[in-house]
Amino acid sequence: MSVIVTGASGKLGRVVAESLMERLPPAELVLVSRHPEALREFAARGADVRYGDFNEPGSLGEAFAGGGRMLLISTDAIGRRVPQHRAAIDAAVAAGVGHVVYTSHPNPVAGNPIGPIAEEHGETERMLHDSGIRWTVLRFGSFAELQVQPAALAIAAGRLVSNAGDGRIAPVSRRDCADAAAMVLTTDGHGGRTYEITGPEALSPRDLAAVFSDVSGRAVKVVPIGDRMLVMGLVLHGASRPIARAVAEFGRAVREGYFDLVDPAFETLTGRPPMSLREVLIPRRGDLLEVA
Ligand SMILES: NC(=O)c1ccc[n+]([C@@H]2O[C@H](COP(=O)([O-])OP(=O)(O)OC[C@H]3O[C@@H](n4cnc5c(N)ncnc54)[C@H](OP(=O)(O)O)[C@@H]3O)[C@@H](O)[C@H]2O)c1
Repeated sequence: MSVIVTGASGKLGRVVAESLMERLPPAELVLVSRHPEALREFAARGADVRYGDFNEPGSLGEAFAGGGRMLLISTDAIGRRVPQHRAAIDAAVAAGVGHVVYTSHPNPVAGNPIGPIAEEHGETERMLHDSGIRWTVLRFGSFAELQVQPAALAIAAGRLVSNAGDGRIAPVSRRDCADAAAMVLTTDGHGGRTYEITGPEALSPRDLAAVFSDVSGRAVKVVPIGDRMLVMGLVLHGASRPIARAVAEFGRAVREGYFDLVDPAFETLTGRPPMSLREVLIPRRGDLLEVA
């Protein structure tokens, strides 16, 4: 039976596809995307590339036909994801997919300051539990690659401005998230399980600044700031108010401990430790110093 990956042309989707290519005959890999043309290289290597859009439920029957297991990659359409993910789960059930693996988020609970981002993941987890299909939830920590831009800005300014207090995150690379997903999709015993996929260490803003300094060779000090001042400062520097608010809400969630989690699940699943933030940033040193 084939393994389906939805949203396969996204940044995570592509790495998952690569990881599955190492574990499966290409003909058993079904890559579903709104942009099949962007996956030509995988089609050329033998993968079955199909069109599918959660906003067009009618496209999903054909897209999911014959699939045994499916990775449902959460979309980036914040505010519209519950109906999208419901359409995907319903279509998977209708197509006879045996097992859906979903990419969720740490602490997808009401009260998490990141609001709809957490609530939509929580709602999708509940839909899966109620769907009757075999499911696995992978709660990915904050992607380590998302630290490249803030690191570059902090290195250029010599200052990491943060409203996260002493709160900590455990950044995890997309590569490791993809390998965890590929393991769950190609081995047995994961039904009904929720795995927290995190990096190897929980880092406060002070720790992040130390990593940025270490990787760049430049001094970076932490400048603590309140939520309102952070929003004002970001808007003054050209950010839209919704983006500025989202950044501040993320910092507040970190400060309040919603991301402070290091879990051994990745190493248990794959047999190797997850990459550290330093290991993710070192090959990107050129990008980090570009702004400086
Ligand atoms: N853990 C974290 O730090 C973190 C951070 C940001 C986001 N995320 C979540 O993880 C997901 C993957 O991250 P990424 O970095 O790969 O993001 P990305 O490159 O922006 O990818 C967006 C993904 O959403 C899919 N998508 C959007 N609209 C869709 C629709 N109508 N129907 C089906 N799929 C749709 C895209 O698939 P196609 O374009 O191929 O159709 C693609 O896989 C994000 O979408 C988001 O839910 C996690």
